[in-house]
Amino acid sequence: MALFEALNLHKRFGDRIVLQDLSLAFEEGKLSGIMGPNGAGKTTCFNVLTGRFAPDRGTVRFAGVDITGEPPRRIARRGLSRSFQSMNLFDDCSALDNVILALPEVRARGFDVWRDLRADASAGQHAAAVLAKVGLAGKEHAGARGLSYGERRALEIAVALAAGPRLLFLDEPTAGLGAEATARLAELVAELKRQLTIVVIEHDMRFLFRLADTVSVIHWGQVIAAGTPDELRDNPWVQRSNLGTLAASASTPRPAPAGAH
Ligand SMILES: Nc1ncnc2c1ncn2[C@@H]1O[C@H](COP(=O)(O)OP(=O)(O)O)[C@@H](O)[C@H]1O
Ligand SMILES: [Mg+2]
Repeated sequence: MALFEALNLHKRFGDRIVLQDLSLAFEEGKLSGIMGPNGAGKTTCFNVLTGRFAPDRGTVRFAGVDITGEPPRRIARRGLSRSFQSMNLFDDCSALDNVILALPEVRARGFDVWRDLRADASAGQHAAAVLAKVGLAGKEHAGARGLSYGERRALEIAVALAAGPRLLFLDEPTAGLGAEATARLAELVAELKRQLTIVVIEHDMRFLFRLADTVSVIHWGQVIAAGTPDELRDNPWVQRSNLGTLAASASTPRPAPAGAH
């Protein structure tokens, strides 16, 4: 049984159908990739899977439990964390404080007491250990605003890891990163892959095909192809689509996509 399953999901916004009979399965311990053109419904898919939007039809199962329609917090408590396509950090806080704010023991007590908790050695140590995991040891007291773009991506992942998830969703983690930062991020994700189940939406085919065990291609809210990277490389649709050309330009720094959700 897959750790996480989406079965026949439908989602529309007004008269626009964004997910159409979409089914996906993510195996425990694997890295599952999702690719597809802009506007295909990838982020919406994450939003439905993580409880931000309820699907109009279909079922979502996590560890065998039907979680369809559960609110994001409850799904997060079950062990699912996500990073957002647009950065989601407290810019005026230090890297350490961003992670402390995401620790379950801090969230459980409410944000009003977090300043006291900051002085709490165990929360600080816990957060510092999470920062070290993403390669940000030594940056604990740097302001989030002052970090490089690649470091901010790593901090976003640290925030998602703070809850100690079993399943981690990353939405376009390389967006806006240059070649060097993308390579560092690939190393980090490869390391995390040894410890937890990961699902990555990604445009950068080189990044995704190097890390993923399986990849699903979403277009017009449907899965149009799925398989291992080797199987998909030969897929006529992948070869024909402009996605193929991205592999060649993957080392070129790209700006963050405009209007990203
Ligand atoms: N909250 C929303 N309300 C209305 N339309 C939305 C909303 N979220 C996404 N959409 C629309 O759904 C389509 C798919 O968007 P999205 O899931 O962000 O695509 P992708 O992540 O694949 O680029 C787009 O046309 C987008 O405008
Ligand atoms: Mg998106």
